Amino acid sequence: MKGIVFVHLLEMVEKEFGELLLESAIDHAETSTQGVFTSAGTYPAEDMLKLVGSLSELTQLPPSALYQHYGRYLFDKLFLSYPMFPPEVISNAFSFLASINDVIHVEVHKLYPDAELPRFITQHHDEEKMILEYSSSRRMSDLALGLIEGCLLHFKEDVEIQMVPLQEDGTTVQFTLTRKP
Ligand code: HEM
Repeated sequence: MKGIVFVHLLEMVEKEFGELLLESAIDHAETSTQGVFTSAGTYPAEDMLKLVGSLSELTQLPPSALYQHYGRYLFDKLFLSYPMFPPEVISNAFSFLASINDVIHVEVHKLYPDAELPRFITQHHDEEKMILEYSSSRRMSDLALGLIEGCLLHFKEDVEIQMVPLQEDGTTVQFTLTRKP
């Protein structure tokens, strides 16, 4: 998993939970590099599970809530750090979300050939409604939910999100987004 995802997580934990909790989380997690991550580096996905597991123990928040919260935070960080979005993609939240799989993550892959990105397929897309299917062996659909929420907040759009697992193991999840009247 790319270091950028770790770097922003640690930054968020420090800002929101403080330096002491961050240090304890790193100590407890016993990640492969003892909590040292650089943006362009690549680290075992297990390190993310360990960090979130240790944060969950220390904060008493479930991992799903931590991933979702982090996704909201991460969206703006990712959006601002890559000035590569074509104008039609950033016209509104639905067009942005529809472009993740075939435009945004493709560009990410060019930048970081070793990035392992989820599949994020658009099954339906009109003005009012959008259906997206997330699939990844990493089972990070709660992070995807937070990122989608972050995207809707960024574009200031009022949309209801429904999240339905399509596989019991969490590898495939469907998101239905409906504009509020
Ligand atoms: C709402 C928008 C987005 C969603 C729902 C989304 C979804 C995800 C998810 C869930 C992951 C975790 C890996 C996995 O599940 O297999 C991921 C990884 C990643 N995404 Fe996105 N993403 C979004 C936008 C972006 C943007 C705007 C960028 C930057 C241009 C970006 C760059 C990355 C990178 C660098 C990774 C790490 C890949 C790796 O660890 O190897 N994403 N994305």
